[in-house]
Amino acid sequence: MVQFTFPKNFLWGVATASYQIEGAYKEDGRGESIWDRFSHIPGKVVNGDTGNVACDHYHLYPQDVKLLKEIGVNTYRFSISWPRIFPEGKGKPNEKGMTFYKELIHLLVQNNIKPAVTLYHWDLPQKLQNIGGWANRKITAYFEQYARYVFKELGDLVPIWITHNEPWVFSFLGNWKGVHAPGLTDFSTALQVSHHLLLAHSKAVRAFREMGLKGEIGITMAMSPMYPASQNKEDIEAAWRKDGFQNRWFIDPIFKGKYPSDMLDWYLDKVVMPEVKESDLEIISSPIDFLGVNYYFREIIKEDKNEWPLNLKVVTADGGKTAMGWEIYPEGLYDLLTRLHQEYNGIKILITENGAAFNDIINREGKVEDDNRLDYLYQHIVQAYRAIQSGVNVSGYYVWSLLDNFEWAEGYNKRFGITYVDYKTQRRILKKSGYWYKKVIQNNGLEA
Ligand code: FCB
Repeated sequence: MVQFTFPKNFLWGVATASYQIEGAYKEDGRGESIWDRFSHIPGKVVNGDTGNVACDHYHLYPQDVKLLKEIGVNTYRFSISWPRIFPEGKGKPNEKGMTFYKELIHLLVQNNIKPAVTLYHWDLPQKLQNIGGWANRKITAYFEQYARYVFKELGDLVPIWITHNEPWVFSFLGNWKGVHAPGLTDFSTALQVSHHLLLAHSKAVRAFREMGLKGEIGITMAMSPMYPASQNKEDIEAAWRKDGFQNRWFIDPIFKGKYPSDMLDWYLDKVVMPEVKESDLEIISSPIDFLGVNYYFREIIKEDKNEWPLNLKVVTADGGKTAMGWEIYPEGLYDLLTRLHQEYNGIKILITENGAAFNDIINREGKVEDDNRLDYLYQHIVQAYRAIQSGVNVSGYYVWSLLDNFEWAEGYNKRFGITYVDYKTQRRILKKSGYWYKKVIQNNGLEA
């Protein structure tokens, strides 16, 4: 018997991103992206993996749409590769690149699958990195041009738009920690990048409204709820600071029109503050239709004065872990959703990513029995349900990911798919979790 029934018209989807699945990195005029450049540098990605071929989705997309149909999703989140559309980052668009997305979207629409399109999932045209990348304010104008062109070509067909994927991850893992493209290691640059990402986001939102498009537009954030390691004042403050650094720094400008004052104070004597022009925050706070939330794990935070510039560290939790070493903590999703609801005016939320990597194996019957992933998804969907019961406006849920794919610095070593990909043959095998998710969608909910 179905016990947890979701609201009518709930969106059930799966998500992917261009660089992680498309391959065809030099085909039909596609330009180089910062992830091509980065992944080709020895030592940056596990096993020297690159996205050159990935899941070859660029060629196999008709088969992948069939797979979506088989799973029964009513929405599919994917991203557009900016350098496929503008090989130089700006200037003359590459029509062949656009044709690929048009065909994909037409196929989705024919199959009653709502496209949810992310404009920027980290694959910046390398040509733009050459002039400073997101640290250069000019990129915000080029992003607007790219967005306008995509809206003009695809606007009528796409009901859900996402400007950026996880600006915190892009800013800080790519520009401070150096473990993602473009591989820089400067905190102040990362802070400046974060401001420009937000500004670019809002310029795209404004263009979208101005063009009178019918769909909805929002942004997707990587969000981890932060819990103090103890009830000491220092740890409580450190957890709040991590929340400011990672969560509030990105959502407050959008929903409150200002950067969190505790973080501005904290940064002041430690880093070079980002250049913020007078009207920027007014633009950044342009209303959006939903907030995309990617949830994978919580964090437990302890003060650590040796850690510059935030004076804190993440403590390893005792709970079960995925193959990424990420703690499995489903209640964190509930805590996060209810908090966002309370503090940000009941904003509509789409869970745009949630999922887990495990070391899958194909068994003798040729099946992948990923009970651990199934259990992970089950537990998190239950928490989403609880949040909805508590009044949070959650209108959709996307599993990360449709396919095993190029997991950034981890390469093909980490499998997140509900479909197994045999990279040698490009054969797709729907995993047990995929068959299970199909039933969840059919029932619009879960059995307890
Ligand atoms: C998120 C990314 C996504 C994927 C998952 C595992 O941070 O948005 O592309 O790599 O993590």
